[in-house]
Amino acid sequence: TPVEPFDLVIFGGTGDLAARKLLPALFHRFVDGQIVPGSRIVGVARDALSDEEYRERVREAIGRSAGSAATDHAIDAFLPLVHYRPLDARRDAGWGEFADLLRSDSHRVNVYYLATSPEIFVAICDRLRDHGLNEGAVRVVVEKPIGRDLSSAAAINDAVGRCFAEHQIYRIDHYLGKETVQNLVALRFGNVLFEPLWNAENIDNVQITVAESIGVEWRAAFYDNAGALRDMVQNHLLQLLCLVAMEPPSSLAPDAVRDEKLKVLRSLRRIDESNVTQVSVRGQYRAGAANGGAVPGYLDEIGRGDSRTETFVALKAEVQNWRWAGVPFYLRTGKRLAERVSEIVITFRAIPHSIFDTGTGPIAPNRLVLRLQPDEGVKLWLMNKYPGPGGLRLRRVALDMSFAAAFGVRYPEAYERLLMDVVRGNPTLFMRRDEVEAAWAWTDPILRAWDALGDAPKSYTAGTWGPSAAVALIERDGRNWHEDA
Ligand code: BG6
Repeated sequence: TPVEPFDLVIFGGTGDLAARKLLPALFHRFVDGQIVPGSRIVGVARDALSDEEYRERVREAIGRSAGSAATDHAIDAFLPLVHYRPLDARRDAGWGEFADLLRSDSHRVNVYYLATSPEIFVAICDRLRDHGLNEGAVRVVVEKPIGRDLSSAAAINDAVGRCFAEHQIYRIDHYLGKETVQNLVALRFGNVLFEPLWNAENIDNVQITVAESIGVEWRAAFYDNAGALRDMVQNHLLQLLCLVAMEPPSSLAPDAVRDEKLKVLRSLRRIDESNVTQVSVRGQYRAGAANGGAVPGYLDEIGRGDSRTETFVALKAEVQNWRWAGVPFYLRTGKRLAERVSEIVITFRAIPHSIFDTGTGPIAPNRLVLRLQPDEGVKLWLMNKYPGPGGLRLRRVALDMSFAAAFGVRYPEAYERLLMDVVRGNPTLFMRRDEVEAAWAWTDPILRAWDALGDAPKSYTAGTWGPSAAVALIERDGRNWHEDA
């Protein structure tokens, strides 16, 4: 459905996120007819560029990222929507004209996307408020990282909150825009099969893996100051955990869903100095082989020999409520792992009593595997009879649904959905202030406990599944990380 013409300003318009994700996403929405001519996309940064120069950059960025949709014809049609304004949040110059541009049609939705480094979020918001650009149908999108701990996150939230009301603030976690992540909600609440079994009585453990094969790429300075816990667990992995563990919301209304996720975050068992060594493993990659070639270790990649930043983390989390008492949620994420794969694995409990001879082979518990990326799909591992007259031999086989085969459509990128949700004013898939802060409140004591321990992260070879201690973490409980076979 096309949306009414709107204005969307990207602060950080010459940056990496704009080039790789935001502009290609807007382009796709335009090609699909959802963004109509007359809408304006305004890139803002400090560089002195003209509209034409910026459009050339946008043309290249779309050519690189937008796949087969990026024909010259389609890009030519899209570029007239794109504009550029050079602005510096720390200087007055140009802000008056910028405000006039945006106020020229007072009926329009105005979206401000803060895709800059967080240090200037506050200065930008103050400018927008000082020019009256925070009034009316205005929304501001805040990218991660929102802080590096609870107090810095609260400071950012306070500062943005002085300029915008909470209902105008859209804190983005792009994992919530992934089709397969939303499918988790469809699977749980659009079917009758799973919900009766979705509890500690029937589920033995949950595993959430977000593995990447890339290294830190060009983001060494940012990454070294963050690490895997802040970069991935505090946001993406905890959001996935929330969607698995939350109680059924009464509707998809924004606060109905966010209230349930918040309860999960607040039920997480605290990890601090008393238990951190039993339930967490930090790792850092050394040189190895990944993506088909030799790759340097983390320290060489960032050009600093003494960094203790973790590029891998494995954790055993617990949701302390009636539904989940005693069920471990094993989380792991890392850079330079053996392959790029994100999945949620629900392992059900063993059958209570076997009627089969021991010679029929072990009876593996049922597993539901939600593959988020790549090869998106759902697998349900079941025990079956192996064909043949030689008695009742059992074999584990998966009911296997590939989304590509089932639907045969292009999967929109997370940002396509999320940007359009902002324009339409639907914050369900965005994080409320209390959620972000609850996630930090759980993460902070882990960071402090690691600091107090003072030991270096465990080394792992690039292109493997992380340090052996991560295997030991789960094997201690008599379990294994899921392998797709
Ligand atoms: C970002 C992290 O939020 O998510 C990156 O900052 C990470 O370090 C990225 O690479 C992963 O996103 P995706 O969509 O490629 O799984």
